[in-house]
Amino acid sequence: MVTISDLSKHVGQTVTVGGWVYNQRSSKSLVFTILRDGTGMCQCITSETDVNADVWEAANTLTQESSLYVTGVVQKDERSLSGYEIHISDMKIIQIAENYPITPKDHGIEFLQNNRHLWLRSKRQWAIMRVRNEIVFSIHRFFQERGFMQLDAPIFTGNAAEGTTTLFETKYFDQPAYLTQSGQLYAEAMALAHGRVYTFGPTFRAEKSKTRRHLTEFWMVEPEMAFFDLDMDMQLAEEMLCYIVESVLKNKMEEMEILGRDISKLEAIKGPFPRISYTDAIELLKSDKTRDMLKDMQLSRAEELKALQTEEKEITAEFNNAKKGRKFQIENRKKEISVRISEIEEDLRNIPVWKESVENLKWGDDLGGSDETLLTMQFDKPIMVHRYPREAKAFYMKKDPENADLVLCVDVLAPEGYGEIIGGSQREDDIEEMLTQIKKHELDEKAFEWYLDLRKYGSVPHSGFGLGIERTVSWICGLHHVRETIPFARTLGRLYP
Ligand code: 4AD
Ligand code: MG
Repeated sequence: MVTISDLSKHVGQTVTVGGWVYNQRSSKSLVFTILRDGTGMCQCITSETDVNADVWEAANTLTQESSLYVTGVVQKDERSLSGYEIHISDMKIIQIAENYPITPKDHGIEFLQNNRHLWLRSKRQWAIMRVRNEIVFSIHRFFQERGFMQLDAPIFTGNAAEGTTTLFETKYFDQPAYLTQSGQLYAEAMALAHGRVYTFGPTFRAEKSKTRRHLTEFWMVEPEMAFFDLDMDMQLAEEMLCYIVESVLKNKMEEMEILGRDISKLEAIKGPFPRISYTDAIELLKSDKTRDMLKDMQLSRAEELKALQTEEKEITAEFNNAKKGRKFQIENRKKEISVRISEIEEDLRNIPVWKESVENLKWGDDLGGSDETLLTMQFDKPIMVHRYPREAKAFYMKKDPENADLVLCVDVLAPEGYGEIIGGSQREDDIEEMLTQIKKHELDEKAFEWYLDLRKYGSVPHSGFGLGIERTVSWICGLHHVRETIPFARTLGRLYP
């Protein structure tokens, strides 16, 4: 058996491939089957004159997602999907699929999510998962090449890491327990044992809000480094992001093309990234520059909307008398227009909300999703916003020695409106300071005894960060919502499939 991704090594040879029918069309004496086998897609051609009657009949009974083995000669063909075609000499049907629910026509998102177990087979979803795999693998490569150890943090935990409002509570025999929100606290212990480590695992947050950025179960990579200060932490985050983007651009161009991703936006992701303090970020958000940007955006979106509506009217009028090829073009263009129009309408609904959010924003608040969106729209690279007010952030962050109201932390915001993908900080290494914060956050001191030991026995400056995999995939693929970035998304109200 050969895979479609390997066809280039078998030109001129007879091969057998196992796969599924993605799509099929036929003329009088030819059947064109788009076969997918998980590694890619390729066109298979069955010609009535080249095969026996049984094979010809079999080819004509195939339905979408039927499973089969095909045997035939591999030919190079530039115009074909994968660059190769198979000229079929034999086929063995495994199963004829009946009434596959996901057809090439448009389906609503609810329907697709309910059929996620099948939706994963669609071309776009296939491409996204391949990019996800590339991102995950590149992260491991990045850290392993730099001598980091990958160690795992527990998933059942006795204490909160990231605030008590998003905890999933469960029972651990007869004790209360929580699903982990972050591996960080454990990573700190491991860093003091191994120097440089990273955890890579599932994390859980009982997020009660439905947004395009929130899952209740998501994957996080969390490096933690002994003897790293905040600047070193930011430098590492920047190098890692550049490395990930570079790997995707190098190895996943076919997938990017399927996704219609504007590659130039990713090619711009090169260090150094702008570093901007929280205080400066607030100032920028409340400046005329931001206000003018919103005004311009509103005007240009409204204009674009008008132009698209006019175009849509024109091509609709043209449709009835158009030739077959042109009809196909018109239908595709209408789909594109409708996607773009709903994006524009969403922006137009958002602009007043963003404006209001920024007007209400004051120094001391954490940045909300819309504030982040507005900030990142003004840069073409990820930006590193550092030194937030103590009140807005987690208990373990180190006090800024130059300003007691601030902590040594960084949020990395992805461009094009994607917002926060990384949260990190230098950790408080002073035991007295840490105790004060644990009390202030009303955390159970007893549960943190082991964590405090890390400040008691050989405390050192140390730092780390957490990168959310799904938000990163969403940004790199240019997706609208994180629910498409993970095989089976867990969001508010969705536990199936
Ligand atoms: O900023 P967060 O909460 O930071 C931490 O958990 C730290 N303990 C990490 C560390 O320093 N080791 O989360 C880190 C990242 C966010 O920037 C975001 O990318 C992702 O995790 N994230 C989510 N992704 C999807 N859905 C959610 N509900 C998420 N919450 C956080
Ligand atoms: Mg955060």
